[in-house]
Amino acid sequence: MNPQKKLHDWYLLHKRDLPFRKKKQAYPIWISEVMLQQTRVTAMLPLFEVFLERFPNPESLAKASEEEVLSYWKGLGYYSRARNIRKAAIQLVNQYNGAFPKDLEMVLKLPGIGNYTARAILSIAYDLPFAVLDGNVKRVLSRYFGYTKNILGPQADKELQNKADEFLNIEFPGDHNQAVMELGAIICLPETPKCLVCPLMEGCFARIHGKTKEIPIREKNQKQVDLIGEIWVIEKDQNYLLIKETKNRFLKGMFHLPYGFIGELPNEEYKPSEFQTFIRSEWKENQSIGKFKHTITHHRLEYYVHHVILKDTKKIESVLESFQMDSKWVKRAELESEFPSSLAKKVKKFLLY
Ligand code: ADE
Repeated sequence: MNPQKKLHDWYLLHKRDLPFRKKKQAYPIWISEVMLQQTRVTAMLPLFEVFLERFPNPESLAKASEEEVLSYWKGLGYYSRARNIRKAAIQLVNQYNGAFPKDLEMVLKLPGIGNYTARAILSIAYDLPFAVLDGNVKRVLSRYFGYTKNILGPQADKELQNKADEFLNIEFPGDHNQAVMELGAIICLPETPKCLVCPLMEGCFARIHGKTKEIPIREKNQKQVDLIGEIWVIEKDQNYLLIKETKNRFLKGMFHLPYGFIGELPNEEYKPSEFQTFIRSEWKENQSIGKFKHTITHHRLEYYVHHVILKDTKKIESVLESFQMDSKWVKRAELESEFPSSLAKKVKKFLLY
């Protein structure tokens, strides 16, 4: 039996019963694949179901405000994914009547859809012969084929994509892609692969040569960026100020507590906004009430939390107006839903009443 057939038989027996596998429909498959890109299945499932209930099709998503879509993404992080999903839904409705095109080049033009997502949607929903490549697939293929070079970077992407294309089961492309990912998720584990129950054990280079510990090789050259930041809780009568900024490095276009970086900055991207500069000069004597650590991709952040209680909001309102900034005051109980980032939760711990 060829390895593709063994893998397919194994998949049909062992695949997890996941809600996005129930129907071969491009829309829920798209949403699930985007959610799964940075988030584990167990963490995304509850949010996936709630998201699909509120936005059951591209039309409902296209009609919703960005803020509402972001609020349904709460807890998943990497919010640009949600913004792009909404933008892509608008294009789907305007250009394709709400249906997903069946052409790779067309799908790749949609915001936020890269090679992985386009290939996943087209193969899983329409059984088109496109092989996917993600972190799990790279591990499985590099072990199976004995790819002993670095698996990170564009060169490896190209070479491993070629291997994935060769390995594709063209009779069942959607099942095959999910089977390779499933194998990576439950059998071909990074540290302790379960080779004895693997359907690909017979032909696997790494297992045969005892090299599962060495392969894959992952050499990162992305430098860590360390930053020190301030995050400001500005309060009036138990209402908290949220602002929206368009140029900041993080949290673009989303209501958030005012924040910014201080000290030595790696480059212009992290420089203070005019509003942060105002806050810092207005309350330069303010002592922070604590600090916490936070990580975003390759950024290691340390945030100092500042708390300011205002008697009146006249001055700040006029500054916000002069900078033409979107802002709102929200109640403590609404902080996390109005500012849907794990930062809100971390800051709230310092507000002890
Ligand atoms: N990881 C991302 N998408 C997946 C899928 N469809 N099946 C298994 N693992 C996945």
